[in-house]
Amino acid sequence: MTTPGDSQGILLPGFPSPFQAFVALTIDDPTSLRPWLRLLALTIADSKAVEARKKEWKRTSQVRPVAGPLLSAIAFTASGLGKLGLDSTLLGSVRFPLQLRARAEEIDGAVLPDDLAHPDHWLCGGSYSGTDIMLIIAGDERDQVTTRIAGLLRSAPRGIRVAHLDLGEKLVRDGSPIEHFGYADGISNASSLPGPKDPAPGTVEDVTIKRSDLPSDAESWANDGVLATFRRLDQDVAAFMRYCERAARDARGQGIEISAEEIGARLVGRWRSGTPLALSPDSDIALARDGNNAFDFQDDPEGIKTPVRAHIREESDRQNPTRPRMIRRGISFGSAYPARGPRGLLFLAFQPSLDIDLENQPRRNNALLGCSPRSWAFYGRDRSGAQRRFEHRIEERFVTPRSGLYLFFPTKQGLQNMLLERSVQ
Ligand code: HEM
Repeated sequence: MTTPGDSQGILLPGFPSPFQAFVALTIDDPTSLRPWLRLLALTIADSKAVEARKKEWKRTSQVRPVAGPLLSAIAFTASGLGKLGLDSTLLGSVRFPLQLRARAEEIDGAVLPDDLAHPDHWLCGGSYSGTDIMLIIAGDERDQVTTRIAGLLRSAPRGIRVAHLDLGEKLVRDGSPIEHFGYADGISNASSLPGPKDPAPGTVEDVTIKRSDLPSDAESWANDGVLATFRRLDQDVAAFMRYCERAARDARGQGIEISAEEIGARLVGRWRSGTPLALSPDSDIALARDGNNAFDFQDDPEGIKTPVRAHIREESDRQNPTRPRMIRRGISFGSAYPARGPRGLLFLAFQPSLDIDLENQPRRNNALLGCSPRSWAFYGRDRSGAQRRFEHRIEERFVTPRSGLYLFFPTKQGLQNMLLERSVQ
C-alpha cells in the first residue's frame, strides 16, 4: 500500500503550479543513465511535499504570489523501461508496450498521412520521435522552470537529448482556471467528485498497480506505480466559435431559437461559468463550485438538457460510483485567443488500467474532440416554447491531437529500485 510519502505528488494531490513543463527525453545511449537518474530521483516530489506546497500556494496566492520550490515528476514509456533493462510487459497491460500510437486511428479516427493529427507528425510519441522518459517540472514562475530545465540538461550525460518540450501555463479567468475555449476547468475529477452523486473521494489506491497483479520480478519497481495517458491536444478556438455560429444559424433556419453561446454550452455540457446544463438548462446562472457537481443525467435520457454527445456526458455518465476512476492532471499551454501561436491542453490522466476503455475510449466521433466530420443532436425551443430536436453535422475540427504517450509513473521507492545496478540492454 502506498504511503503519502512514497507516491509521486503529481498523482495526488496534483501540482498547483501555474507553469508546468513536460520534457520528453530520448535516450540514445543508456550507459551513464542511472547515475544521472539517481540524482534526479532525489528531486521528485512526493505527495506530502506537494500537499504542503499546495496549502502554502493557496495561502500566499491570495495575498501576494511567492515563488516556492519547484515540483518534479518522472515517468517512463515502455521503451524507456527497456533501456533500463526492465520488461514493460510485466506491468500487466497489453497496450502499454504497444503505446498509444498503435491505437491512434481507433481513438482519433482515420486521418490522412499529411494531416498534423497523424502520428507520423506528432511532436512526441508518434512514429518517428522516440520518447523514453517524461519529466514534468512545475513552478510558480516561467523563468524558474526554464532555468531548472537548462540546468538539468547541462548535467545530463551524453546520449540523453530532449525529443520535445511543452510548457504548460494555467489559464485563469477571475482567479479560477479555464481552458482555451473559455469554459471553467478543474471542476470535476473522477477521483474526487464532491456532492451526493459521488460522496466517496478517490484515493491513490483507486488507480495504482497492485502487488497482487504483478509477477515477482516486477514487484520491487512496479508496485503501487501508476499508468497514465499523455496527450498534447491543440485547440482551434476560431473553428470552435465559427462552428457554434454556424450551428446556431442552421438551427434558427429551422425555427429553433438558439444562440452560439448555447451551442457551445451544449457541446461541453456546462456553461462557461462551469454551471452544468443538467442543473440550469436555459441560462448560465452562478452556482457554488461544490453545487456544480451534484447532478447526473438520469432524468434526461434523450439529452434535452444535456445532449447525449456533450463532452462531459460522454466522458462520465455519473451513475456508477464504482466505475474505474481516472485522475486528470492536465494544464493548458499557449496564449489565450486571439493571440497568435498554438494553444491547447497538455492532457495527463492517471488510470487503473489502459486495457479498459476509460478515457481512452475511441473518440473519433466525440462532438468536441473528434478529428473527422461527425454528427450530434441537441434540443432547443421553437417560438411556441416547445422543445425541438435538431441534428447537426460537425465538419470543423476544434481539437487536434499532436502527441500521445502511455506513461508509467513509479513510486519514489519503485524509482530507487529501478535504478539499482543491473546491466542495461
Ligand atoms: C482540448 C481538449 C479538451 C477540452 C477543451 C476539455 C474540456 C473540458 C471541460 C470544460 C470540462 C468541464 C470542467 C471540469 O469538469 O473540470 C471537462 C471535463 C471532463 N473532461 Fe475534458 N476536455 C478535453 C479533453 C478531454 C479528454 C481527452 C478526456 C478524456 C480522454 C477528457 C475527459 C474529461 C472528463 C472525464 C471530464 C469530467 C466529466 C465529469 O465528471 O463531469 N477531456 N473537459
